[in-house]
Amino acid sequence: MTAHTTLRGDVAILIPAAGTGERLGPGPPKALRELAGEPLLVHAVRQVCLAPCVGMIVVAAPPAQVPAVTALLAAVAPVTVVAGGVSRQASVSVALASVPERFDIVLVHDAARALAPPALVDRVVAAVRAGHGAVIPVLPVVDTIKQVGAADLVMGTVDRSVLRAVQTPQGFRRELLAEAHRAAIDDLGRRADHTDDAGLVEKIGHPVHCVPGDVRALKVTHPIDLVVAEALLRAGTLSA
Ligand code: CTP
Ligand code: MG
Repeated sequence: MTAHTTLRGDVAILIPAAGTGERLGPGPPKALRELAGEPLLVHAVRQVCLAPCVGMIVVAAPPAQVPAVTALLAAVAPVTVVAGGVSRQASVSVALASVPERFDIVLVHDAARALAPPALVDRVVAAVRAGHGAVIPVLPVVDTIKQVGAADLVMGTVDRSVLRAVQTPQGFRRELLAEAHRAAIDDLGRRADHTDDAGLVEKIGHPVHCVPGDVRALKVTHPIDLVVAEALLRAGTLSA
């Protein structure tokens, strides 16, 4: 893929990439950590470019890295790079503000889910087009989940059948996402922080629809995730 890649779709995708990656341990910001010789963010952008519905990509970069990220991505795809904020939610808000009105559907992704396949992007967008204002990809929870209290004492076992692990990209009607982000800021300008955008939409009472997720959309969080992601990449099954 080259800088000549043209994005022809009608969907904007926001890629927050401004985190430090504390849980990965010392090193550059997580989005710039390498996977098979290239930064996670390059993989993430390349994957989403393969989804024909994508017409705009906005990356929220660590503020000090905006020029470097702009230069890095210039050779990959036409991307708008903005300076991210102090939280993921703040980074998404800044990125959303740069999306022109003509994009009625906005996806919110994570640079850390760099290998999410284009078919997942399409599945989320199809559900938004089918009439769901907010859509999340989910997977069943495989582990038994316990509630644990003080002194490491088990309080109970949660019914796993009603639980889902949530991934990105999450898809929204742009106006609903903007309203949810506005509502998360109180009169004093304080932000009620959520770990995902669907959480903000839930907060304003709007339904959120689930579609099947994809194991390849795993979030690189701990060092072992880089090993798993690299193995997936080498297995070469990512565009399935
Ligand atoms: N993110 C962001 N702006 C922030 C914090 C996070 O854009 N201020 C992005 C990250 O770059 C990542 C995504 O949100 O792509 C998901 O966050 P997470 O996996 O928690 O990444 P980090 O915050 O970088 O990792 P850690 O929590 O381990 O520091
Ligand atoms: Mg984080």
